Amino acid sequence: MSLLIKGGRVITGADDYVADIHVADTTVTTIGASLNVTADKVVDATGCYVLPGGVDPHTHLAFDMAGTRTADDYESGTIAAAFGGTTTVVNFAQQRPGEHLRTAVERGVASAQGKAVIDYGQHIILTQLEDSTLHQLDELVGEGVTSIKMFLAYPGELMVDDATLFQVMERAGELGALCCVHAENGPVIDVLVRRALAAGRTNPSWHGRTRPELAEAEATHRAIAVAEMANAPVYFVHLSCAEALAEVTAARDRGRPVFAETCPHYLFLDSSVYDDESFDTAKYVLTPPLRDVRHQDALWRGLRANGLQVVSTDHCPFCLNGQKDLGAGDFSKIPNGGPGIEHRLQLLYAGVVAGRLPLQRMVEVFATTPARLFGLYPRKGTVAVGSDADLVVFDPSATTTINAATQHMAVDYSMYEGWRLAGAVRTVICGGAPVVENGVFVGTPGRGRFLRREAGSRP
Ligand code: URP
Ligand code: ZN
Ligand code: ZN
Ligand code: ZN
Repeated sequence: MSLLIKGGRVITGADDYVADIHVADTTVTTIGASLNVTADKVVDATGCYVLPGGVDPHTHLAFDMAGTRTADDYESGTIAAAFGGTTTVVNFAQQRPGEHLRTAVERGVASAQGKAVIDYGQHIILTQLEDSTLHQLDELVGEGVTSIKMFLAYPGELMVDDATLFQVMERAGELGALCCVHAENGPVIDVLVRRALAAGRTNPSWHGRTRPELAEAEATHRAIAVAEMANAPVYFVHLSCAEALAEVTAARDRGRPVFAETCPHYLFLDSSVYDDESFDTAKYVLTPPLRDVRHQDALWRGLRANGLQVVSTDHCPFCLNGQKDLGAGDFSKIPNGGPGIEHRLQLLYAGVVAGRLPLQRMVEVFATTPARLFGLYPRKGTVAVGSDADLVVFDPSATTTINAATQHMAVDYSMYEGWRLAGAVRTVICGGAPVVENGVFVGTPGRGRFLRREAGSRP
């Protein structure tokens, strides 16, 4: 199968030019002005941007948490991703108590079989360090699982102590793997949560009120110091506030290999949602919580100035009915997380339209830098001869309205209900095959490939 994408404005992290793109089989083979080639299929991209397919390095598809499983499996989740211009996800596989790391990854890969419509990698969430764990890590990195997530929150469930953090970082540094850290001071937060509950403060608003910015900044500071002692790079997931960003920026200014992502919900939503004391607020029970609106300027500035390198979604969807309501009467039992995999590009483009993010910088944080950091570049994350033909035709003159009723994520609400945004994803191609065409799904579940990622790649 060959494709010709004609007349689009190709935007990468490095370039902005009008060209035709020829695709043979899975790969981009020629890029040039007015190509004189034949193709099985021609896509007219006149007036549209042609972007590299998005790389979302933080998703929780088919993920077990708080006694339930996220609402999207690999099928609905990757279809929703594709509708939003994302052609690669790196999803989390979580080590269960006593489990060999590889077993967790195999379970993750099995849950994608016959379902994923776009390509996917796996991170391992390490929850326990035993004598053999570091050796297991060597094996996993050799098999293309080159990033390890650890939690400094959720004591007794997911949290690792500083000794584990240090030893895993040290080995990861030697192997060229990247440690991803959920930075919140879990023990302090747990005391605040217990106190709130004891005082009868049980509604979802209290989720936001019991996870202060300083808990995030402290854990960020500590993990940076531990990473430096371990001589390893570190990547902070879902950074939400100015204080944590200041820690990252200070470390980067010292030349340390410290990286961080934020998520669209921290850029567009704020803690005023927690003023509503009704259970409806469970929609916004995600971690870290939404912050005061003052943080948004700092995060946008961080994205522009490279204090923040990536925007991921932390897509972790739970339905209000039947899942979030597990925490009716006790906010600490509400499964943490929100849906977002479908709207990352659309929301980032709103930042471009508002003058908060240059267009090429948008491509960097959406696709190029996550591909580089997670060992996928230049196969993913750019439009170039030899790269995978993962391409998005985005029409900046159209508009998109977000509605829970019409979204493709299998969840019964949107945090952006009714938002009307500039631009629309027209056509999405993954590995040379159309997945979305003029707003219609044309992909094939199971066609997405497991990605063996490289170690040692950094921006
Ligand atoms: O609330 C969130 N973010 N849920 C997903 C788990 C995590 O911490 O990333
Ligand atoms: Zn997290
Ligand atoms: Zn500090
Ligand atoms: Zn997450």
